[in-house]
Amino acid sequence: MLLKELSALASPLNDQQIGQLQQAASELSPQQLAWVSGYFWGISQTSGATQPINQAAAAVSSQPAGKLSIIFASQTGNAKGVAEALKEEAAAAGIAVELFDASDYKGKNLAKETHVIIVASTNGEGEAPDNAIELHEFLQSKKAPKLDNLHYGVIGLGDSSYEFFCQTGKDFDAFLSKQGATPFIERVDLDVDYEAPAAEWRKQALDKVKEALASEAQSAQVVQLPVGQAAHTSQYSKQNPYTATLLTSQKITGRDSGKDVRHIEIDLDGSGLTYQPGDALGVWFENSPELASAILKQVGLTGDEAVEVDGDSISLQKALVEKYEITSANPQLVTQYAELSGSKKLEKLATDKDKLRQYSGNTQVIDVLSEKKEKLTADQLVGLLRRLTPRLYSIASSQSEVDDEVHLTVGVVEYQQGDETRFGGASSFLSHRLEEGDEVKVFIEHNNNFKLPQDDNVPVIMIGPGTGIAPFRSFVQERDNRDAEGKNWLFFGDRTFTQDFLYQVEWQKYLKSGIVNQLDVAFSRDQQEKVYVQHRILEHAAQVWQWLQDGAYIYVCGDATRMAKDVHEALICVVEQHGQKTREEAEQFVNELRKAKRYQRDVY
Ligand SMILES: Cc1cc2nc3c(=O)[nH]c(=O)nc-3n(C[C@H](O)[C@H](O)[C@H](O)COP(=O)(O)OP(=O)(O)OC[C@H]3O[C@@H](n4cnc5c(N)ncnc54)[C@H](O)[C@@H]3O)c2cc1C
Ligand SMILES: Cc1cc2nc3c(=O)[nH]c(=O)nc-3n(C[C@H](O)[C@H](O)[C@H](O)COP(=O)(O)O)c2cc1C
Repeated sequence: MLLKELSALASPLNDQQIGQLQQAASELSPQQLAWVSGYFWGISQTSGATQPINQAAAAVSSQPAGKLSIIFASQTGNAKGVAEALKEEAAAAGIAVELFDASDYKGKNLAKETHVIIVASTNGEGEAPDNAIELHEFLQSKKAPKLDNLHYGVIGLGDSSYEFFCQTGKDFDAFLSKQGATPFIERVDLDVDYEAPAAEWRKQALDKVKEALASEAQSAQVVQLPVGQAAHTSQYSKQNPYTATLLTSQKITGRDSGKDVRHIEIDLDGSGLTYQPGDALGVWFENSPELASAILKQVGLTGDEAVEVDGDSISLQKALVEKYEITSANPQLVTQYAELSGSKKLEKLATDKDKLRQYSGNTQVIDVLSEKKEKLTADQLVGLLRRLTPRLYSIASSQSEVDDEVHLTVGVVEYQQGDETRFGGASSFLSHRLEEGDEVKVFIEHNNNFKLPQDDNVPVIMIGPGTGIAPFRSFVQERDNRDAEGKNWLFFGDRTFTQDFLYQVEWQKYLKSGIVNQLDVAFSRDQQEKVYVQHRILEHAAQVWQWLQDGAYIYVCGDATRMAKDVHEALICVVEQHGQKTREEAEQFVNELRKAKRYQRDVY
């Protein structure tokens, strides 16, 4: 309801109060209004609320109207985005609603709630996102309260290519239920193309919440909050990206390197977009038209066929280039195509979950379709494919150094499949198909789980092999520009010193000027035995332990499948050896570092 339409009949306020409210509101910006709404809501919830507010509430109903709390557990922003949309829709539906980052939510407060929705993604191998580790741990501990009055809903976000699909959502569902809470709607486990089913679930959930809260408050007078704009600080987002310009795309690996890594610079001037070290840039990309044509040829289509996408009729060729994933395969695609084509190999794979996951993670769409040639209709082809999703890249610059630019370090996905060279969708778009000066649609994905310490005197240890180096370029630029006194220690690794030392000149400059106090590198192919960053950590175990004793924060960025696990293991060894702890105590110590945000990871 708009303020100007408020009347004494439709609100719990009298005419004089409405006049005062309208007067005050007319002087506020939309952002200030959103803030004020949250402020008043907070006052209304505390026992120390001022007398007139209490009187006004009492005039409406003898029973307080309930509220909905939404909690998000999110690593890279998807669950956060769904939770924010839910909050806006709840507010628009007249439901009193509060949104919480799981790391800001005290688990014991659940006992005071009547309606809660948890939006949870899954990270690691079936692990909770960093911002929800504590809540996740608390709810399975002996301290978890009885929740007999709680009605809840859970949206799980995940990726069915992983073994533990949507595990964190499943966990929260199980924990709440075990404590006596009642689901008011069935949990939903959503895959990477979660947008449409998430919107559908939100609608159903909010209808139920609205009904329940209305009957709870008897008078159906629920607190009306203005549509919650508070979460948005920029007009640009994943759904509404900014059209930026590519300034630079420069190969930064040597001519003889086995890898193609690009330093990318993008101009954000005029966008109003801002970012912090540790944030990521979301990039919407277009697929290769040649790959789209090859897929069309494979299934006997021309590309001129019309298909309907989001209510628009467009050519199939355009749909493949702009709207659908045509590089990455997934288990559903393989299973569906097994049925459509009758391929014996795919049918066999579809019966073995582990092999199916492995195959679909290492095979592109066109190579799945090539397992058995089959003519498809345009609708059949589109029915096999997922909608295109943007890719995230850790930001490799600090705005204190580069103003309105944003820099990335992009490893081009490129490998041989028989006689063909296959490329990754987004990385080849950024490095091969975009020319300098071309447009690229981007958004900022803020990441509160990967942030420099507030205190500039605190030492930091950064472990970033390969493209994992990206955020540390941003960290060091920032610490340099802030004249931070805290020491900086960087571990970098890659294949060879001569070909793969990313940003070598910059690191040497920082080392010389004393901004970087220590730099330890591991080039795996420069000697007989393989040496990786975890070996360097172990070689310097006593010093790493000393830095930890001095309060250092540890950051790890890059490969999730092997590197992050090996580094984690190395850190446990350091603590075990030099902290004189048992294995269990050392694990506990590292876990506590994580909870205290002194051990943060940005891995993919
Ligand atoms: C938070 C976050 C931060 C990130 N930061 C960075 C960063 O700073 N720099 C960076 O480079 N990346 C980063 N990434 C990864 C990035 O988002 C993309 O996943 C990556 O660039 C690949 O995307 P693509 O579209 O090029 O490839 P896709 O089109 O997604 O994938 C290519 C597909 O090719 C197949 N494939 C790939 N390699 C092989 C192989 N060797 N053999 C067989 N099949 C294969 C697989 O099916 C794979 O799914 C980050 C990811 C996250 C989540
Ligand atoms: C490093 C990494 C590990 C992941 N592990 C899992 C997993 O074990 N199970 C799962 O279902 N999804 C997994 N995912 C997929 C995410 O849950 C999915 O992309 C989700 O949309 C991310 O939401 P968020 O941005 O809110 O964190 C993983 C993603 C990444 C990058």
